[in-house]
Amino acid sequence: MSPLAALFRSSIGRKFLMALTGVILAGFAIGHLVGNLQIFSHPDKINGYAQFLHQTGGLIWAVRLVLLASVVIHIWAATVLTIENRRARGTDYDGGKRWIKATLASRYIRWTGYVVLAFILYHLAHFTFGVTDPADFKARHAYVMRHDYAVAGFPVVAAGTAVDNVYLMVYRGFESAPVALFYIIAVGLLSFHLLHGIDSLFQTIGWRSTTWAKALRKVVALVCLLYFLGNLAIPAAILSGVLPPHPDAQVAPAVAAH
Ligand code: HEM
Repeated sequence: MSPLAALFRSSIGRKFLMALTGVILAGFAIGHLVGNLQIFSHPDKINGYAQFLHQTGGLIWAVRLVLLASVVIHIWAATVLTIENRRARGTDYDGGKRWIKATLASRYIRWTGYVVLAFILYHLAHFTFGVTDPADFKARHAYVMRHDYAVAGFPVVAAGTAVDNVYLMVYRGFESAPVALFYIIAVGLLSFHLLHGIDSLFQTIGWRSTTWAKALRKVVALVCLLYFLGNLAIPAAILSGVLPPHPDAQVAPAVAAH
């Protein structure tokens, strides 16, 4: 059996794949949040950033393929491992207690996983394909950059370029209370999912009770909390009106007519 096939066919290989894809997806989620937090700045920032990502062409597609493959492998490995665990626990060898504890923990992570998956599908339909609320998606068009957008000091999107108004689309999206609340609940569950994922990983490899793993768990818990707060801040600030849209975000008349 080739090493790649062994990864997919052995139980330990599937656990490794699940951890690896989990780390890739968590890395994306954190990077995405950092990019999204630019909404608290001038609209040029998040609009220039989205334009920059779109103009990377092949690179953005490569990242999308890796993410899609990671989601598929993560869900597949989770499903197979759950079935295997159930079979292995067919007999209640521990007077019931341990079985109940393990089942609750695994149920928890499974259910948060289902909600996160539903959220991602909704999110893509909302902001990427514009099918859930076409009016929000329409706001995405027509924005002229006021300043250059630079990455590491290099201007990558020039002032005067017509780009997508991602800033206004996000504002329109989160002005709806049900939408903003769904995002808040979903990112809360995603943060729990991340924390439980790390716990399961530590349990699998037998590190859970080591002193340094306990310390690392605290760091991970802090990162998950900050991740939640960062994601909460965007819909909460928009819905509550704490951060009204920047005047420059409104559609430029010349482009609106276009
Ligand atoms: C407040 C929270 C969030 C905001 C404001 C937000 C905003 C956005 C926006 C504006 C886009 C479209 C970007 C573009 O087409 O240029 C997008 C795409 C996306 N978002 Fe989010 N997002 C949020 C949370 C999340 C979360 C929690 C996840 C999942 C972990 C996620 C996953 C994605 C994915 C997979 C895409 C598609 C990226 C692509 O085009 O390849 N987002 N998001």
